[in-house]
Amino acid sequence: MRDFETKRLKRSGLSPTVALNAKGIEMKEKGIDVLSFAAGEPDFDTPDAVKEAAIQAILANKTHYTSAAGTVALRRAIAQKLREENGIDTDENCIIVTPGAKLALFQALLAFLEEGDECLVPTPAYPSYRAIIQMTGASYIPVPLKIEEGFHLTRGMLEEKVTDRTKMLIVCNPCNPTGHVLTDEEIKDIAAFAEAHEILVISDEIYEKLIYDGRVHRSLGSIPPIKDRVITLNGFSKSAAMTGWRIGYSAANPVLTKAMMKLQTNTVNCTASFVQEASLAAFSCTEETELMRRSYLQRRDLICDGLNSIPGIFCPRAEGAFYAFFKIDYQGMTAEQLADYILEKAGVLVVPGTAFGEGGEKCIRLSFAADAASLEMAVERMRKIFS
Ligand SMILES: Cc1ncc(COP(=O)(O)O)c(C=O)c1O
Repeated sequence: MRDFETKRLKRSGLSPTVALNAKGIEMKEKGIDVLSFAAGEPDFDTPDAVKEAAIQAILANKTHYTSAAGTVALRRAIAQKLREENGIDTDENCIIVTPGAKLALFQALLAFLEEGDECLVPTPAYPSYRAIIQMTGASYIPVPLKIEEGFHLTRGMLEEKVTDRTKMLIVCNPCNPTGHVLTDEEIKDIAAFAEAHEILVISDEIYEKLIYDGRVHRSLGSIPPIKDRVITLNGFSKSAAMTGWRIGYSAANPVLTKAMMKLQTNTVNCTASFVQEASLAAFSCTEETELMRRSYLQRRDLICDGLNSIPGIFCPRAEGAFYAFFKIDYQGMTAEQLADYILEKAGVLVVPGTAFGEGGEKCIRLSFAADAASLEMAVERMRKIFS
């Protein structure tokens, strides 16, 4: 058969985390003893109030197309949340509700990047950033951060990589996979950099609600000099355990929003109507979100204490999100070799740090959105193979 795949698509690959997660499911189905920590998803069920609202919405026949950007009620609720909690000066005309924040990310990159453009990504980073940038024809420019420096980003690091082709910077805060939460200094640096070079900033805030040790989340979209050039991405997947519902959103100034609407109206048309109705109920689930956050925090400490007690492992405490991202010095193994070794010898499925790009060498990502007993078992199995 002819090779029909476009050059554009050939530049990118399948999502490594999605593929590894599927591998874990397959191994379990075959009866292989494997503990899987590859997925990036809450291990909680969606709150009852959201489920009930969805059922009621279906019974009330809220099963038709909605306006393409989303229902006015949901867009107003999102805009109100962004104003009150994030200090972002926005309204319902600046919001697009999408089937998952990932689609909002796709729309933002496809709308504003093309052949000849460069997009900066501090790494290790969510793998879809690179894959989608490459699909647009633009160049992915990593800005590698170091685990030993707490994955701290400086203006100098960005200045080193900027050229007159740089059009965009993508920031994930809190970060998947490193768990880093941007400090005020980093926020100031990013804002000054974006303003000086007149670039767009994507601020992926999907883990906003999962933040630990009294840290404060600040949205780049609230910083005056750059607020018009920031596209904020968020959703309900992680904060309300709604991954399978597929709902997220973007918030950007009306000109940027209008461009992204060309993609929305000509692709998905709108996000599922009853899912939008149910998401309205998620705004009231603050207690459930807080319970989840506290539970992740306990498990973060469990996994970090356990891993740090194994010689050769350095596991910084995640400041946000639900991933342990740690370094292993063992017989000169690369991240891929380490992940294979851990799976083969310990039956523990994890993601090699290099799946998240530069800065992930000799590192492993393990999701601690898993039950405590499995996490304890994983530590003990790893202790055996690394001691
Ligand atoms: C950093 C980051 N951004 C975006 C997403 C996509 O979230 P959604 O389920 O809303 O598409 C994820 C999901 O894992 C993520 O980790």
